[in-house]
Amino acid sequence: MFSLLEPESLKLLVAEIRSEFKSYEHIQTEALGSLEYLRASLMETLRITVLQSTGQPRVSPGANVDGKHIARGVEVRYGFLAFTRSTRYFHDLHRYRPQRWLPESHQYWDPAFKYDATDDFHPFSQGPRSCPGMPLAWRQTKLGIAKVLWALDVEMLPNQDITFEKDFRMYGMWKKPSFWVRFHPAPIGS
Ligand code: HEM
Repeated sequence: MFSLLEPESLKLLVAEIRSEFKSYEHIQTEALGSLEYLRASLMETLRITVLQSTGQPRVSPGANVDGKHIARGVEVRYGFLAFTRSTRYFHDLHRYRPQRWLPESHQYWDPAFKYDATDDFHPFSQGPRSCPGMPLAWRQTKLGIAKVLWALDVEMLPNQDITFEKDFRMYGMWKKPSFWVRFHPAPIGS
């Protein structure tokens, strides 16, 4: 959805997928690892939508974190929303900008995002209780998006003024707004 709202990003994503695969049958999970713009688009979607808005609680065993003592028994959480919405950590943070996740060697890397805290964002969390579904989620999402965007041109229907802050609601999980698109078979060899 966010790519469709930013046509330039969608163009780059579609171009990367279609230039990588000669045929639909060639779109296999092992071949998706090299698609840097696809990975960047998904990371940016995770940054904007932060599926776990507050993070899971942890009970402190009594520890020092960044020079502050957290007493034993205190419940702490990782503030995903506060982090991803802070200008201390992300430039142009209300816009969907996949290029912030590209490596410097990539042709679409943009130095405006050089100081973004990309190494510190862990949408699947870290440590022994981190998400066990992460590899599956990456694989299935990349595969699904690559197949759809390889085979179909996706057109956003007009008059859909959707922004994350205005239209998404958090009730434990996100309640997402309706979003209407039209699919067209992609021209062969595009
Ligand atoms: C984009 C997709 C997903 C995201 C962003 C995500 C994110 C997370 C996060 C942040 C946690 C909390 C980890 C923590 O407390 O430190 C979690 C836990 C968990 N996730 Fe996911 N997840 C995703 C998909 C999946 C899938 C596809 C599965 C299963 C097939 C899955 C299974 C689980 C389970 C079982 C836990 C609980 C782990 C535990 O408490 O030990 N997740 N996930």
